[in-house]
Amino acid sequence: MQKKIVLLPGDGIGPAVTEAAASVLQQVADIFSHTFTFQEKQIGGAAIDTFGEPLPADTLQACKEADAILLGAVGGPEWDRQPPHLRPEKGLLQLRKGLGLFANLRPVKTFPSLLSSSPLKQEIVAGSDLLIVRELTGGLYFGTPSERRDEGQTVVDTLHYERNEIERIVETGFQSAMLRNKRLASVDKANVLESSKLWREIVDEKRKDYPEVAVEHMLVDSTAMKLITNPTYFDVIVTENLFGDILSDEASVLTGSLGLLPSASLRADALGLYEPVHGSAPDIAGKDIANPLGAILSAVMLLRYSFGMEKEADAVEAAVNEVLQSGFGTQDMQVKPESIVGTEKMTSLVIEQLMTA
Ligand code: NAI
Ligand code: MG
Repeated sequence: MQKKIVLLPGDGIGPAVTEAAASVLQQVADIFSHTFTFQEKQIGGAAIDTFGEPLPADTLQACKEADAILLGAVGGPEWDRQPPHLRPEKGLLQLRKGLGLFANLRPVKTFPSLLSSSPLKQEIVAGSDLLIVRELTGGLYFGTPSERRDEGQTVVDTLHYERNEIERIVETGFQSAMLRNKRLASVDKANVLESSKLWREIVDEKRKDYPEVAVEHMLVDSTAMKLITNPTYFDVIVTENLFGDILSDEASVLTGSLGLLPSASLRADALGLYEPVHGSAPDIAGKDIANPLGAILSAVMLLRYSFGMEKEADAVEAAVNEVLQSGFGTQDMQVKPESIVGTEKMTSLVIEQLMTA
């Protein structure tokens, strides 16, 4: 297959981890006889410095024409004092909006060899393997009005959803459950919020189309508890923007390392934006110590969701597992001191493993 991939390295450790993931994708192309073309574009602080804006029109255009997009991270202290429209993070928000990416998928899986690095009890966390599907473009973060009134003494934020916005994310939730263990927890606050009541109605309508999926309605507060007391309870969680933001950050501590976590932002067709969950980590940039696995596992999601390349995705995932089983890790992963490797070494270990498989 022939596929166009746009690379958006961004800032801090973004370029190093993006390069790592791209070299793994190139290896996949070589092994499985695909042709991947890579086009690199600017976003975030790097784009502000060169073009005076965090998302140049040329970058957005290239992304629209791509089959998939792989992003590193944006931001850093250099740009912290800029006005809001000149913040690196704005570039990412504009990109998601410009491409209509409404579904954010964050899988969280504990690797057996890394259990000791989780802050939670090993026996609770062991075997956790869940996926959070979060609505990304509606709800409280985008509702208007959002303002201060009465000389700042009154504040208003608006939680706004249209039926079709809920329908499409719920649909993504069911489809994701079908690809996994067919269990879906729909998370809301239907005992209080009107938006949650509509959410629940829509889930109950849609479940008729997916009779194989076991659906459970859960309230967000009890979900938050259950995520840390019994994380293996969950398969797929689908929820709205604010709840998903909080629950996905909570779930990310299960693995013990931010550097390992991938994400995907999707819309109804195959185009997707893939990026590690971590930020630009300015404290470790340029030192060849950043963990590239979050970016590499994001490339695995890219193969699976945008290209439909299941066996290719499985092969990379197996290679990562194998490297971790051998005890290797980057400095953020609490492996034995003699098994700590840098970004480039970790990447070449994965590639070597991929070649021998
Ligand atoms: P961060 O995720 O960049 O770093 C948090 C901590 O985790 C740091 O100690 C860092 O060294 C470590 N870390 C992160 N990724 C790592 C990796 N791959 N390997 C090893 N260690 C890793 O979050 P922080 O410090 O809050 O933000 C730094 C900058 O990144 C800020 O400008 C922030 O706005 C931006 N940011 C960007 C995101 C994105 O591009 N999607 C997401 C989160 C933050
Ligand atoms: Mg967050």
